[in-house]
Amino acid sequence: MTTLTPTVNPAALPQAGAQAPLPGGLPDPATLARLASEFFSTLPGSAGAPGVAAGSGAVGGVPSALPAAAPILASLGNPAPAGSPLAGPGGTGTGVPGLELPQGKVPGANLAPSAPTHVLALGNRTPALAPHAAAANGLPDNAVSIAPALEPRVGGALLGVPQAHAAAEPAGPVPAAEAKAGASERSPFYFADSAGHGWQREVQEIVVPAHGFAAPETFGLPGDDSLRELLTLNRPEYGTHDGAARYFLAERENVTFRSDVARSAHPPFDVNAVRRDFPILQERVNGKQLVWFDNAATTHKPQAVIDRLAYFYAHENSNIHRAAHALAARATDAYEHARKTVQRFIGAAAPEEIVFVRGTTEAINLIAKSWGMQNIGEGDEIVVSHLEHHANIVPWQQLAAFKGAKLRVIPVDDSGQVLLEEYRKLLNDRTKIVSVTQVSNALGTVVPVQEIVELAHRAGAKALVDGAQSISHMRVDVQALDADFFVFSGHKIYGPTGIGVVYGKREVLEAMPPWQGGGNMIQDVTFEKTVFHGAPARFEAGTGNIADAVGLGAALDYVSRIGIENIARYEHDLLAYATSVLAPVPGVRLVGTARDKASVLSFVLKGYTTEEVGQALSREGIAVRAGHHCAQPILRRFGLEATVRPSLAFYNTCAEVDTLVSVVRDLAPRQ
Ligand code: ALA
Repeated sequence: MTTLTPTVNPAALPQAGAQAPLPGGLPDPATLARLASEFFSTLPGSAGAPGVAAGSGAVGGVPSALPAAAPILASLGNPAPAGSPLAGPGGTGTGVPGLELPQGKVPGANLAPSAPTHVLALGNRTPALAPHAAAANGLPDNAVSIAPALEPRVGGALLGVPQAHAAAEPAGPVPAAEAKAGASERSPFYFADSAGHGWQREVQEIVVPAHGFAAPETFGLPGDDSLRELLTLNRPEYGTHDGAARYFLAERENVTFRSDVARSAHPPFDVNAVRRDFPILQERVNGKQLVWFDNAATTHKPQAVIDRLAYFYAHENSNIHRAAHALAARATDAYEHARKTVQRFIGAAAPEEIVFVRGTTEAINLIAKSWGMQNIGEGDEIVVSHLEHHANIVPWQQLAAFKGAKLRVIPVDDSGQVLLEEYRKLLNDRTKIVSVTQVSNALGTVVPVQEIVELAHRAGAKALVDGAQSISHMRVDVQALDADFFVFSGHKIYGPTGIGVVYGKREVLEAMPPWQGGGNMIQDVTFEKTVFHGAPARFEAGTGNIADAVGLGAALDYVSRIGIENIARYEHDLLAYATSVLAPVPGVRLVGTARDKASVLSFVLKGYTTEEVGQALSREGIAVRAGHHCAQPILRRFGLEATVRPSLAFYNTCAEVDTLVSVVRDLAPRQ
């Protein structure tokens, strides 16, 4: 088994106290800043990275544990007495962001934290400390206002964004990129400021092995030979397998992914390169390298998304559509560009078919409360599946109760796959809408949504596909799918929280009434009546989540650069591997064993509550969700109230899976 081993060489770490020590034997703030800066100017894992031994046992290209010998800033006292409101959560120091520390009279003086903090943890802040105004001691003023005392965590070394990474980014606007995008791509919203909108730019390609699909050697896992055999034996020929609609595009075109690989415009996949794009994966939890297996709950954000958000607030921030000033134009342009990015990503016919909302839950509520209120009547039927998240149950239940309609449920078999024959029997001329998830958040089942949509249409019903759990794992083409609605959340696909999408066929959206009234969604208002905009504006009342829509666009661009097919293949192999090593652990019961699955590996462990397993994993730095996953009906179908749910993403590795399995194995068995 591969284990995470400390590989940082203490001798290579910056030595505290090099010059002008402060009381308590600490280096002066300028020295601290310089040392942190030097440390973070080298990419973690690179040969020259201080403290990272060449040929180390770092896993997945990630520098491993910080040595116990890392210098600690422990001795400088903060005058705030214990119990004072200025005492921070980890000891003394203000716990209130923005509140000056009592001793902060000299610029930079409070850089030395009162709580024990590794020197290197200061580097966590380095990227945010781009100096804008040097103080007398040479430190930027904002270093004073975000003193590390506000963040009393111990650890966090090797965190943050290496400056080398930042240096690889363009320093500012890249006007040429806009020209390159072509006249047809120019935004009509840039009317007020032709000088340099600049986010669209050349992207760095990801370099990966030539054969194009995930293979054991790409992530250096143990037992390469047996895994290679496992993957070869179990790799489905996607274009030919029966029934289920996973990879429906490939099926429709009667091609296999292997031939897609040959055609792919993307370089193949390198998990180590991908991991370097996600700064939080360097985080340490309970002294261990973070292992993030809670991707079904939310995904982490690549540096490209973080940078895009920062750029928006630094250069474009404004409300949209309302003012003929430069920043309104920039913000509007960025927002509408994001809408087009979403349109392209999911294969919609026009940007007008894309409505920004807060997330999948709000998306389904919008449809239930607008389309549903208009089209569902007494005695009508709404069909969902047994797999649904509460967000795809409760709004329909509310609507059904209000209208006197009925909710009908497609059952699943013991593997957790929907029973299509039973579904057929549910359809009749009272069926008005069928609303199903594409991937179950609790079990990982990939539902044959294409058949479900087609059968709904044959029955004269509309079809909604909940893509919250599918969007990041497989190609979605809403026109090929022919769903009337497709919904998803940005944060499940490496974008920000608080932003999501309703895709609706244009004619369907245009026929729907608004659900919220207010600014932005109107053409004309008098006290007698209001004339509404068409879609999508009519569904976007009030000031929306502009920055995060832009961040979502950046996330989709990022995924597109890697290639969703590359991601799907890698994750498929990773899930196959994880299943093969978790299933045999004594006492483990996998919940959800459908043939077509994505990402999720729900299980229970005999003799342990799911909470106990979750806590044991957390002690080792491994994040999973343990609970009902907002999908109580499907868990109860399997006689359970909760499961432990590791959920994988394309930045996870087999070594991380091994770490998880070893914790579970150490727990088992208990009767
Ligand atoms: N829907 C999210 C989950 O499955 C929150 O965890």
